[in-house]
Amino acid sequence: MEIQEIKQLVANDMAAVNNVIETQLHTDVELIDQLSHYIINSGGKRLRPMIVLLSANALGYQGKQHFDLAAIIEFIHTATLLHDDVVDASDLRRGKTTANHIWGNEASVLVGDFLYSRAFEMMVHIGKMSIMDILASTTNTIAEGEVLQLLNRNNPKTTEQQYLEVIRRKTAKLFEAGAELGAICADNDKQRTSLALYGLNLGNAFQLVDDALDYSSDADEIGKNIGDDLAEGKPTLPLIHVMKTGNAAQVQLIEEAIENGGLDKINDVKQAIEETGAIQYTIEQARFYAQEAISTLSSIADSDHKAALAGIAEFSVERTY
Ligand code: IPE
Ligand code: IPE
Ligand code: MG
Ligand code: MG
Repeated sequence: MEIQEIKQLVANDMAAVNNVIETQLHTDVELIDQLSHYIINSGGKRLRPMIVLLSANALGYQGKQHFDLAAIIEFIHTATLLHDDVVDASDLRRGKTTANHIWGNEASVLVGDFLYSRAFEMMVHIGKMSIMDILASTTNTIAEGEVLQLLNRNNPKTTEQQYLEVIRRKTAKLFEAGAELGAICADNDKQRTSLALYGLNLGNAFQLVDDALDYSSDADEIGKNIGDDLAEGKPTLPLIHVMKTGNAAQVQLIEEAIENGGLDKINDVKQAIEETGAIQYTIEQARFYAQEAISTLSSIADSDHKAALAGIAEFSVERTY
């Protein structure tokens, strides 16, 4: 199923989620109000809330709790973006100037904290221990992932395995939580593990593609600056692949680029990536994880919603934004 069709399938539910988001953003502190609305309404893909809705619906859920859970997941996602753009010193997201560039790092970090803690208020209000359990350990794992990534910064010796551990924690974990919460909502213990695994594999695929796009897309298309990862000396898979398969000069080029960060060698780096097929390799890995995600859906009864979950896995690999 194509992404447009998937969006239509969840359009009514997503409108309900957006209502929850709007209501829950409310605060009398004007700066929070302004900054949080700016980022939340700036045109994110809303993939993670979509996954919550689709998982619950694929298991026949008829209630309304998935609207709150989807909003919670989007709040947590948005909080990580506010923090991430400070850490990565990024100035473009969703085709707009980042909040940190408009309001400053302090405001971005603190409003990120507001969104995290509002998400926690909302889950406590739901009052289900299994939900709090998943979301508490998910936010904890994301923080670990971001710190692990920080430790790998400027380190060309970072292995593919260490890189995969970072993306599992910083990105895949939240997709896992989203899909698993759908199953919890539907009170379906039997499918809980398979949906969690679907989310985890999908999240890995999603971040692999993100890291490929950081070298192969353009800012107009993806709404973020290209080369942010290189600028920060991040050893992502495209670079790790060049270091593994390139000639001596290419290996040295990448090692120095990671050690020093910055964008002065970006054209040479892109050429080495091109010559070693590093983007294709990264996308192949993403395709593997997406396929794993789709396979784990086999025990769930066929429906439009299940087809949409598979469609999201395909979209995550084919996407250009
Ligand atoms: C961006 O996620 C952060 C990553 C995990 C790469 P998305 O690409 O889903 O961000 P939005 O919400 O659509 O802007
Ligand atoms: C995103 O990592 C992970 C989190 C936000 C936790 P990136 O740094 O690759 O995401 P973008 O490219 O800035 O969206
Ligand atoms: Mg970033
Ligand atoms: Mg990125």
